[in-house]
Amino acid sequence: MSGTGTVILGIETSCDETAAALVTQDGSIMANVVSSQAELHARYGGVVPEVASRRHLELVSPVVREAIARADASLDDVGLVAVTQGPGLIGALLVGLAAAKAIAWSRRLPLVPVDHLDGHVASLYLQPAPLEPPFLCLLASGGHTMLVDVESHSSRRVLGTTLDDAAGEAFDKGARLLGLGYPGGRELDRLAREGDPAAFDFPVARVPGLDFSFSGLKTALLYATRKLSPDQLERRRADLAASYQRAIVRALVERTREAAAQLGGAPIAVVGGVAANSELREALADAALAPLELTTDNAAMIASAARFVEPVQYPGYLGLDAFASR
Ligand code: KG4
Ligand code: ZN
Repeated sequence: MSGTGTVILGIETSCDETAAALVTQDGSIMANVVSSQAELHARYGGVVPEVASRRHLELVSPVVREAIARADASLDDVGLVAVTQGPGLIGALLVGLAAAKAIAWSRRLPLVPVDHLDGHVASLYLQPAPLEPPFLCLLASGGHTMLVDVESHSSRRVLGTTLDDAAGEAFDKGARLLGLGYPGGRELDRLAREGDPAAFDFPVARVPGLDFSFSGLKTALLYATRKLSPDQLERRRADLAASYQRAIVRALVERTREAAAQLGGAPIAVVGGVAANSELREALADAALAPLELTTDNAAMIASAARFVEPVQYPGYLGLDAFASR
């Protein structure tokens, strides 16, 4: 490429992934670089916000440079900078936002602040098979679990959300109880394949409306593990994982189908880290599932979302702040 000035540079640092991507106006991914800090946080059993911010600070420039290099492009090709503004860890967000402002300002480019959740939804709008709204979207990640009525590329309505833990959080906490690493969702998914999902009866709270609740489930798993001797626990770990996963997936699928029916049989889409779960993907095989590599946090989805938002022109964005929650 030679200085086309049309490409979108996306930056995402809301949690423990430092990510940068180059995406074209029509939603083709030119490069999508994700540097995960998971190993750094593993020994604490969860993300340590201050450790995450510092790591983002070290990684954000090299990751942006890597994305530009992998796209075989230069900064002259970039016409717009997109960055996650929130929700997420405030210190982590500020690093990405400052980097995005600096790049945009130095080249007098416009900037789009993106809501992380719109980013996850926009993972469905990328090539080669962009989904067209309207649809009902299940967004299930480490920080969020919600059902969203996506009316158009730029308008959405939240129909239900979790009253306590997010689905990904339930996976991670369950994994921890079963002695798996952090983040444990993927490990639990793997272990569950060797177990019997009917071995244990884990109830999922039915709350009114289209909301979710997962905190009771985690307690049920805790009690089940306490009843077992260390030997028994070791032998039944796969059964516990399979039964626990079945309960989460069932809750997600039931509510999603209910919401789709309420919207008059709307098509279903699934995004967010938990959309990588193999049992969920099977149970909702008729739905539009975010491509596996775009389920967990990445910057291509942030650049994708920016295509449907009015940019803030130079230098109006310098005063923008990040937000931890809505
Ligand atoms: O979207 P994401 O990367 O970050 C947030 O925005 O929160 O989601 C991360 C979450 C973690 O809780 C992780 O355990 C979960 O997605 N996850 C999975 C799987 N892969 C990632 N959960 C269940 N099964 C998987 N295969
Ligand atoms: Zn996310």
